[in-house]
Amino acid sequence: MDVYNSLISRRSVRRFLSKEVDQSKIKKILEGAAFAPSGHNIQPWHVYIVTGDKKKKITDEIINSIENGEAKNFKQEFDYYPTEWYEPYISRRRAVGFELYKLLGIAKDDYDARNKQMQENFHFFGAPVGMFITMDRRLAEGTFIDLGMFIQSILVGARGEGLHTCGQVAFTKFHTILSKELEFDENEMLVCGVSMGYEDEDAPENKLRVEKLKHDQFSTFID
Ligand SMILES: Cc1cc2nc3c(=O)[nH]c(=O)nc-3n(C[C@H](O)[C@H](O)[C@H](O)COP(=O)(O)O)c2cc1C
Repeated sequence: MDVYNSLISRRSVRRFLSKEVDQSKIKKILEGAAFAPSGHNIQPWHVYIVTGDKKKKITDEIINSIENGEAKNFKQEFDYYPTEWYEPYISRRRAVGFELYKLLGIAKDDYDARNKQMQENFHFFGAPVGMFITMDRRLAEGTFIDLGMFIQSILVGARGEGLHTCGQVAFTKFHTILSKELEFDENEMLVCGVSMGYEDEDAPENKLRVEKLKHDQFSTFID
């Protein structure tokens, strides 16, 4: 697959087949992602890859914390979203939720069904592979740029192996559970989760195609 096609075939998949992923493919994707640029080549990322029992344990711990109310006190370590939304972002954000729930036949006011769908995040949307990407929280804000490049390299690299992914900031609220399960160092901060596997092409949620801007809507050529 050429670079352009890998870029445009990447999208967030939210239902995976249970089909296992060869570890050799994951290693190849990571070795490719290792070539991501980073300021001063500091390569500030670490990735935990979970499958099998560990993945299940993480799901169980997170779902338990939601069910027993403990999760209400959990907080993300960094803000990913603004506290107040405004245009044009609010409309784009709403469009994704609206389309996803429509495809799944979930009514706007069916909070139980919406909540259940949200919890699918913690089941890795059925994917056999989960990833957690961390960085040292003592580094500066700019390090998030490096992490973004690295994570996108994983997502695009996965396409080269016939795999799909979903980036998941949803996991960051549960960093205490992940820190315990994955034995983070004291300065390690969870930045993002990723589910990876083979797409379930029949799943309605995977029919979602979000609208992308055309280049002239976000770029300016100046002579
Ligand atoms: C850093 C990051 C975190 C995300 N977190 C979640 C998440 O927790 N759950 C989810 O379903 N999608 C998540 N997404 C997927 C976005 O909703 C998705 O990228 C966006 O709607 C654009 O759709 P596309 O990826 O199909 O192009 C995340 C994406 C990024 C880049």
